[in-house]
Amino acid sequence: MTALTVNGRPVNFELDPQTPLLWALRDAANLTGTKYGCGVGDCGACMVLVDGAALRSCLVTLADAEGRMVTTIEGLSRDRSHPVQQALVAEQAIQCGFCTPGIAIAAAALLATNASPSADEIKAAIPNLCRCGVYPRLVGAIQRAARVQARQERISAAPAPGISPEDAAGAVPAMRTNTEKP
Ligand code: FES
Ligand code: FES
Repeated sequence: MTALTVNGRPVNFELDPQTPLLWALRDAANLTGTKYGCGVGDCGACMVLVDGAALRSCLVTLADAEGRMVTTIEGLSRDRSHPVQQALVAEQAIQCGFCTPGIAIAAAALLATNASPSADEIKAAIPNLCRCGVYPRLVGAIQRAARVQARQERISAAPAPGISPEDAAGAVPAMRTNTEKP
């Protein structure tokens, strides 16, 4: 039995530990958003996050993944609201969609470590193959996702109305006694 965490939940796989993670996810866990393209590490259709890194799951065995945190496209967001997912749709960077889950995973991993990637950084970080040729739209989509993600982070970091910056930063206000004037 191989224990790992998949999309935030503990999962025990009763499979040969040398089974590729791709097949454990697709066939045993029914997470079919992760795609089988080439099976030899070339296409990137099978990418998943393993402890935050985008890896080709056809090349990762269950034994390699033991005890690690795996996130598939189904776990990137509950409602397809991850900025990368929304930006790929908004920029029409999807045709048949077969490569899209792997690209979304690679892009999410990139934005987790580089909040504002250049076009060259995106091209270097997204090695995925796309038979439909969505490449020209990918850079714009991922830069759009970066802007949305940055805006979301600014909003979540902003103090709520009426909260001082010190309180928002976690400072505990001094307690007043009954005898103190307000
Ligand atoms: S199926 Fe894994 S890289 Fe192509
Ligand atoms: S959109 Fe069809 S393979 Fe990429």
